[in-house]
Amino acid sequence: MKKYNVAVVGATGAVGEELFKVLEILNFPINKLVPLASTRSAGKYIEFANQEIQVKELTHDVFMEENVEIAFFSAGGDISAKFAKSAVSAGAVVVDNTSHFRMDENVPLVVPEVNPEDIAGYEDSGIIANPNCSTIQMVQALKPLDDLYGIKRVDVSTYQAVSGAGKAGMEELVTQMKDFFEFKLDSSKIETFAHQIALNLIPQIDVAQDNGFTKEEMKMVQETQKILHKDIAVAATCVRVPILRSHSESITVTFEDGVEADIDAVRNAFENFENLVVIDDLEANEYPMPTIATDTDMTYVGRIRRDIYSPNVIHFFNVADQVRVGAATNSVRIALKWIEQQNA
Ligand code: A2P
Repeated sequence: MKKYNVAVVGATGAVGEELFKVLEILNFPINKLVPLASTRSAGKYIEFANQEIQVKELTHDVFMEENVEIAFFSAGGDISAKFAKSAVSAGAVVVDNTSHFRMDENVPLVVPEVNPEDIAGYEDSGIIANPNCSTIQMVQALKPLDDLYGIKRVDVSTYQAVSGAGKAGMEELVTQMKDFFEFKLDSSKIETFAHQIALNLIPQIDVAQDNGFTKEEMKMVQETQKILHKDIAVAATCVRVPILRSHSESITVTFEDGVEADIDAVRNAFENFENLVVIDDLEANEYPMPTIATDTDMTYVGRIRRDIYSPNVIHFFNVADQVRVGAATNSVRIALKWIEQQNA
């Protein structure tokens, strides 16, 4: 099997570090690994497969110099905007984890369990976009339901971990918790989030839009429609919670008019979908939680129930490690599918 020269842009970040783990776990066919970051981190070492590999500075020429064939970008939208095309010009396929190219019509937006066939459209741009973390774990659960009954509308509230804001987000929560126990939370730094996050929750992620929703909420609307190729109505409320890792979502799905949702059929559809795990025994206190999902590559669903008023409405809860499933793992799965399609 062919092995590839692989670059990771943002190698020292929260997602970058996780990418190395997932590349190893999923046995990615690597010939040479090229970790890239800013001048701040160039020269440091990252660990991969019991080896220390030196981080190089991200430049426009590095992709050509290192003969990169697959480049994972996870250093923020501005960096992707500036450097992704250089990777493509050097002959690499880019798997971009930022929001920069997601809604570009020449760039496929892919969750491999849901729309792997869209990967083939990468040739126009050389880029495949990885969706927003909250979108990924939601569409993994929506796809089997849409196949089963046809979805008309989705209402979702999220409970999003601080690692969605990178390492700085995690450090801010930990520092504020320490300050709380030292009775100095009042003077603790508030930088990454608009408000104190320790012992609090913040019903805003990303900037306000003219329609009263936030940008994060509108990403969930637009990306879901693009991935499912369907104008499903989506209303989201995205909330930052004081959890280090793994996003949770409370989801209400309205099926087409006339559907009488059968909960056993719904559970069965979830159970038979790739990378979904059902944990759903309320009487035994069993349901998905961040402590279960963290450091795994699965998406967990539970609390599955039919609405008490409308037979075409169901409710459920889902949880996934958003740094893995919502970023690193999805990117690596995209690249593995891309390789599979190249060799088909
Ligand atoms: P660096 O360590 O050099 O700052 P996180 O999402 O955890 O905040 O991580 C962001 C990642 O993006 C880090 O690896 C960071 O590298 C990288 N990064 C940020 N700015 C740049 C830049 N100007 N050029 C290259 N990499 C960058």
